[in-house]
Amino acid sequence: MPAPSRVLDPSTQQALAERLRFYRELGLTDFYRRPAQAIQQMDVPGLASETQDPSSQPIYPQETEIPPRKPIAAPPAVAPAVTDSAAALRIIREQIGECTRCALHTGRNELVFGDGSPDARLLFVGEGPGADEDAQGLPFVGKAGQLLNNMIAAMGLKREEVYIANVVKCRPPQNRTPEPDEANTCAPFLFQQIDVIRPEVIVALGATAATYLLGQRQPLAGLRGRVHTWRGSKLIVTYHPAFLLRDPRQKKEAWADLQIAMRELGLQAPAKA
Ligand code: URA
Repeated sequence: MPAPSRVLDPSTQQALAERLRFYRELGLTDFYRRPAQAIQQMDVPGLASETQDPSSQPIYPQETEIPPRKPIAAPPAVAPAVTDSAAALRIIREQIGECTRCALHTGRNELVFGDGSPDARLLFVGEGPGADEDAQGLPFVGKAGQLLNNMIAAMGLKREEVYIANVVKCRPPQNRTPEPDEANTCAPFLFQQIDVIRPEVIVALGATAATYLLGQRQPLAGLRGRVHTWRGSKLIVTYHPAFLLRDPRQKKEAWADLQIAMRELGLQAPAKA
């Protein structure tokens, strides 16, 4: 007797269609030969709220010319001396507490600490929470998060296998770029998280992440396409998913960056179309 065909609900169908379109935009046409895990992540967090209210998505500045600025020194490693990464991350979260260290706390609904595996080999850093993230207390759960999920899946990974965090943990008003004093106040906690997780590869998503991780402000064009180092991890710079949503033609460039990350991790790149 033939197996009954599986009927997908509309939101799953939409997520699937979006994922297939993403693969096509990357130039991947034989993804269906890849392990099932890479294309099966239909339960995308935040999808429902995205489809209901697209206007609540963050708006990021165009990633074009960025004026030069004084380098920001990375603070010393201050991660707690705990061998269990999950426990160490919990301690950092406790140290942050109900944070009032910068003005961003005034508009906060939920503090967005980070999400994913405490032992991740790959760690993504974004800019700061948007409306959906502020509502849920989780990073990258809005429309940009949907695209990041697709990027992670295209690398053959699951979202739970990587770690995702931001330069600032509270939502900037109107999703503006964090001010230097806000980013410099919050980033040391991100650095502590990274010191605990010790990922092999960090992917900086966009100019803000690149600036505060590398301690230098340069146009993305000058930072992409090569491997930097950051306190023992390899660091790769690519476009922010929100920028890619505005300019999907750059997805191929972003995919080239992610392939550098994959090479550093020893992950197999999908076969060329
Ligand atoms: N954009 C970011 O930079 N971070 C998020 O968590 C969501 C959107």
